[in-house]
Amino acid sequence: MSRFVDAHLGRLTPYVPGEQPQGRTFVKLNTNESPYPPAPGVAAALNRERIEAMRLYADPNCTKLRQAAADYHGLSPDQVLAVNGSDEALYFAFLAYASNRNVYYPDVTYGFYKVYASLLGAKGIAVPLNNDYEIDWKDYFGKDGMIVFANPNAPTGHYLTHADIKRIVMSNPDQVVLVDEAYIDYGGASVIPLIKQFDNLLVVQTFSKSRALAGLRLGFAFAQKALIDDLTRIRDAINPYSVNGLAQTAGIKSFEDRRYFGECVSAIVKTRARTTQALEAMGVTVLPSLTNFLMMAVPNMPGEKVYKGLFERGVLVRYFDAPRTHAYVRVTIGSDPEMDAFLDALKEVIA
Ligand SMILES: Cc1ncc(COP(=O)(O)O)c(C=O)c1O
Repeated sequence: MSRFVDAHLGRLTPYVPGEQPQGRTFVKLNTNESPYPPAPGVAAALNRERIEAMRLYADPNCTKLRQAAADYHGLSPDQVLAVNGSDEALYFAFLAYASNRNVYYPDVTYGFYKVYASLLGAKGIAVPLNNDYEIDWKDYFGKDGMIVFANPNAPTGHYLTHADIKRIVMSNPDQVVLVDEAYIDYGGASVIPLIKQFDNLLVVQTFSKSRALAGLRLGFAFAQKALIDDLTRIRDAINPYSVNGLAQTAGIKSFEDRRYFGECVSAIVKTRARTTQALEAMGVTVLPSLTNFLMMAVPNMPGEKVYKGLFERGVLVRYFDAPRTHAYVRVTIGSDPEMDAFLDALKEVIA
């Protein structure tokens, strides 16, 4: 760090992303990407449009993409903001609704919430999950700041019902409730339809997981127009062109191919069930998951040791070095052959 940096930034602990290994080939099950390629129409459109999309500035308002997202979800385009990965929507929301205020999130959840809180001078308040690693809506009753949680939660995989989310939203009418639906497509139901009813509900989704476009950086925020206008103002005060032209084209093409999307998600759900069964047969503890990952613990073996044992065998998973997660590792659901390789390696580690 230089001597010029703001003291506050000097004290910040930045987010540590999962490894993106360069050089060595791994069975890569650490950052919840899709093992399947994006919809076939994506590659064809990008091949056609890539030169112009690089030469020109993209449409800052993402007009066609927002229309496609609005049509897909039964909304109007002014209830949609396209962003450069859902992290950007989270950042805008923290900036708009949490800077220098309180913000509440689960003690075990996506690590960026804490980082954004600290970056923006918010007081981040970690609300403990219950003993089954579940969010209890009662813990979020009548708070004095923004509430943010992932549904299903990460890295635990637990899914909160619409009824429970409604209770949180209704008991906090003067606070924004941000529901991060990065993993909603793997068996949950989105709360996007509820935004018509609640002016304090903000829903964020990503195209990095179920849509297989992590590298292009695309995500969305959904809310009533007033909240979307807030976030758009912030976007336009930072980087109006945050979503590049290739990502806009890819997003539209991905929305168009509903069948392919459904097939990829079904394949993951099937592989998740099979992997869970195999792990449980080995005596491994697996938290119930409606996501494309499993949080699992090998009895009497710290998560770090499992992580290292798998790493040595060419399988990359994620270990979170924190008091409530140190017994666990998080494993992305890959293709069937990838999961077979993971299970074989895990058998060796346990032996
Ligand atoms: C819960 C959650 N929210 C948001 C993100 C960020 O996704 P994106 O790639 O769209 O920025 C992730 C990525 O791992 C995540 O797990």
